[in-house]
Amino acid sequence: MKSKLFIFWIPLTCLTGISLIQPIHSKDDTDWKNVPQFPRYWEKAPASLAEYPKNNNTVYINPWNYLDRQGMYKSIIEATGKQLNGTELGGNLNLIWGLPLQHGWQFETGRLRDFTNRTLCGFGNDTHFDEKSEIFCVSPKSWWASMNYYLSVLPFLAAMDAGYFKDEIKGLKVELKPPNFNADKFCYEIKDCKNKEIKSMKSLSDFFSYLKKCSQTKCETDIAAEKLWKAHVELIDAGTKLFDDELSLLSSAEQRFGKGWVKTVSMLAAIRFRTNMIQTSKFQELGLPKRILWETDAAPNIQDLSQTENMCLYVLDLLLYWDNLSGGSIVSTWNAVMCSEATRKIGRTIMTDLFQSPLSAANDIMSLLWTRITRGC
Ligand SMILES: *[C@@H]1O[C@H](CO)[C@@H](O)[C@H](O)[C@H]1NC(C)=O
Ligand SMILES: *[C@@H]1O[C@H](CO)[C@@H](O)[C@H](O)[C@H]1NC(C)=O
Ligand SMILES: *[C@@H]1O[C@H](CO)[C@@H](O)[C@H](O)[C@H]1NC(C)=O
Ligand SMILES: *[C@@H]1O[C@H](CO)[C@@H](O)[C@H](O)[C@H]1NC(C)=O
Ligand SMILES: *[C@@H]1O[C@H](CO)[C@@H](O)[C@H](O)[C@H]1NC(C)=O
Repeated sequence: MKSKLFIFWIPLTCLTGISLIQPIHSKDDTDWKNVPQFPRYWEKAPASLAEYPKNNNTVYINPWNYLDRQGMYKSIIEATGKQLNGTELGGNLNLIWGLPLQHGWQFETGRLRDFTNRTLCGFGNDTHFDEKSEIFCVSPKSWWASMNYYLSVLPFLAAMDAGYFKDEIKGLKVELKPPNFNADKFCYEIKDCKNKEIKSMKSLSDFFSYLKKCSQTKCETDIAAEKLWKAHVELIDAGTKLFDDELSLLSSAEQRFGKGWVKTVSMLAAIRFRTNMIQTSKFQELGLPKRILWETDAAPNIQDLSQTENMCLYVLDLLLYWDNLSGGSIVSTWNAVMCSEATRKIGRTIMTDLFQSPLSAANDIMSLLWTRITRGC
């Protein structure tokens, strides 16, 4: 089938592009195993429910604050650490790490601020802040922040529903603060979320019950990754339908990047990319743009971004363009090819090698093609 060939063309463009421009070296060769990349201000985030403000038997969490949101992830990682090999390598193998790391990247790159510019929410000096600083404010007028709500609060509530924070809660109520804008587009309680987001809440619940169950026997990384990614994709689908107005506040370059990011997530899901600390840090440190994109930004020629960042933005643009032209068949073909653990494994190697050794990634693509031809699915 002709459309199946697109899929190989795209990564090859990325690879040849990268290798023609420059040999990748120095920073990219860092031994990531020895460099835990915690999200920014991770140490300031509440480590458990006990560290949030409490009053009248109620724990108050404000998801519109960066530290409070990271605190929800921290609680989940703390609670699931053992099940996902969290205690090994300082806990950085837990697959949940992908979520707070992504949120940290959004924070560092100014993607959580008020994009109408009407308030100071999310603006400020990241290195010197005082009590009045709004740097930790997360704005509902940010597409990234709104999308991330679905990827933080819902997993947190699902983990709570699965009984993860039982000891900390002990009769306390947990109250989540609604935003002052778009409040009806979010949910705040387990029951509420289960009603509004039936599919994704069910998948999250499936993921957390698997973790609870396998902690007694043996947790399979592949099964855990499959369940987490299923929920992840559904949560993003839910958000994508709701925040078109917020998306339109972004520059057109950033809008395209946002849409490309959504597609990439579904391709990463197909290979069950291991969203542990090591893999996620590497991926986002090398590939994701370090600042919000402006109207005039045109990859691969953005002066203040690295070559790899430029190349990845460029490839994302191509991906969107070709995927649209082919009626969405690139992403669906990629997903179809990743139907067996053998091809998914190659897919993961391609993603890992992409930035470090393009030649070896090209090799992997050939072997993916070969596996597909010789074994089918
Ligand atoms: C404390 O919680 C109870 C039950 O939720 C409520 O009836 C009461 O008004 C609350 N008191 C204050 C001071 O918020
Ligand atoms: C907000 O400010 C930025 C930077 O000055 C500008 O590029 C953007 O267009 C402004 N957004 C709106 C909605 O006015
Ligand atoms: C933040 O504030 C400090 C001290 O006033 C200053 O040295 C630094 O350059 C500022 N950083 C940014 C990014 O504005
Ligand atoms: C935990 O670690 C063991 C050995 O390192 C590995 O075989 C297993 O798949 C891991 N499980 C998870 C859920 O990461
Ligand atoms: C391609 O883009 C057009 C115009 O933006 C849009 O109407 C169409 O739905 C897109 N097709 C796919 C498959 O994404």
